[in-house]
Amino acid sequence: MNIKLPISLRLTLWYSALLLLGFVLFGFTAFLFVDKELYDEQFNTLNESAEEISEFVTLKNDSLDVPRLVEETDAMNLQENGIFFEIWADSSDFIYRSRNFPRFLKLSYKNLGQSPTKIADQSGQLYHLHSSSVTLVAANKTKSHVIHIRTGQSVLYVQHILNRIRMLLLFMSPVMLLLAGLSGWLLARRALKPVVDITNAAREISLYQLDKRLPEPEQNDELRQLVQTFNAMIGRIQTGVTKIQQFTADVSHELRTPLTVLRGEIEVTLRKTRGKHEYIAALKSSLKEIYWMEKIVSNLLLLSRADAGKLTLQKEQCDFIALVRECMALQSHQAETKNIAINLQSTQNHIDCEIDVNRMRQVISNLLDNAVKYTLPDGKITIETKKEQQHILLAIKDTGIGISEKDLPFVFDRFYRIDKSRSREQHSSGLGLAISKWIVAAHDGHIDIMSKEGQGTTVRVVLPLGNISPDENKNN
Ligand SMILES: Nc1ncnc2c1ncn2[C@@H]1O[C@H](COP(=O)(O)OP(=O)(O)OP(=O)(O)O)[C@@H](O)[C@H]1O
Ligand SMILES: [Mg+2]
Repeated sequence: MNIKLPISLRLTLWYSALLLLGFVLFGFTAFLFVDKELYDEQFNTLNESAEEISEFVTLKNDSLDVPRLVEETDAMNLQENGIFFEIWADSSDFIYRSRNFPRFLKLSYKNLGQSPTKIADQSGQLYHLHSSSVTLVAANKTKSHVIHIRTGQSVLYVQHILNRIRMLLLFMSPVMLLLAGLSGWLLARRALKPVVDITNAAREISLYQLDKRLPEPEQNDELRQLVQTFNAMIGRIQTGVTKIQQFTADVSHELRTPLTVLRGEIEVTLRKTRGKHEYIAALKSSLKEIYWMEKIVSNLLLLSRADAGKLTLQKEQCDFIALVRECMALQSHQAETKNIAINLQSTQNHIDCEIDVNRMRQVISNLLDNAVKYTLPDGKITIETKKEQQHILLAIKDTGIGISEKDLPFVFDRFYRIDKSRSREQHSSGLGLAISKWIVAAHDGHIDIMSKEGQGTTVRVVLPLGNISPDENKNN
């Protein structure tokens, strides 16, 4: 089952679980440590007591001086500390047992060697025992005796302390869990606050408020990088939307003028009954406007399909020089009316290439149309083509009016025309270069423009030959 919990809750749970685990581990280790320390401490006390008792274990007439032992050990405050002891001589001769020796604790000589050891008495009460021995030599040095001293103490007190610690740890566990949960929740909330702020700020940004940006967190961390990336993305969207808005405004503007002209002409014509020739003239004039609108609309359609990636190239093999000649022929009439000479200079007679012929015809025609349109009568246009390695180089030079430095960077923009006032009479929609640029780029080629105001313009196109074997061009 895949349960989707909010991040803050997941963080809190993780934090609480880890903190609790840490607490349990710490508690367990601390408990073991205290347990060992307490028993070690008790053992040391038993050992020290045994050592002190051993000083009073003396012989009198070759047997243990019990009255002295009782007298001295009574003075040692052993009873107050709950320490009891017993003394065994040699193999198993039991000699003395302190008065506070536990009633139900039955010990034998057998377990004397084990030290330290814990033994329960008949009532189940547990005792900690320590055994040691001393060797006593008789005054006449004829005999020696090994005396065993066994000290002991109830573990009740130690167990009591350990129980208290256990209880404390058990009591602290839910408290710690509560604290861990609370602090985890607070921490998660704090850590996620910038995310909440960003979410709220992002909610306020709509398509009409793309100039707004998300507030950047002060700390230079991952969240700040996220916000910066997000802001950069909004910036790109803003640029895109502005372009679309600009484009829509331009389109409406471009179409409004011919529509107004068309409406005016039809209204004037319909105002009174006219002769056949007047109607024909009005229809011809209207048709011109319709052609004009048609040109704009088809160019726009082409660009928008290109933008949407729906325009694909239909590449085929062709002779580039022949294509250039064809385009020259198409422009010849226009050029002749202005007495403009168009020359083709090429180092090859044929250049075989693989391109979308219709689209490339559009590019060359656009460039030639510009050259003719923006060159004054009696000017000159030179077309240079050559093949260099796997590329075709095309340059169209004119001796026309040229483009100022200030306008040059924008001539590939949609609807950009330097002299807008003459655009209608020149049939300029300002889309020719934008379309050409897209077509050349779609062929993985490159187009650029150089110009000097009053001197002329050169447009250069570099095109890959496409899938043409080197042999196919070698005889040209
Ligand atoms: N050879 C040139 N000489 C001088 N100016 C040019 C030349 N080519 C382009 N331009 C300038 O660049 C602008 C944009 O050219 P573009 O071909 O995109 O549009 P257009 O020729 O105005 O209209 P369209 O090509 O859509 O009929 C032109 O309006 C013109 O001002
Ligand atoms: Mg043009």
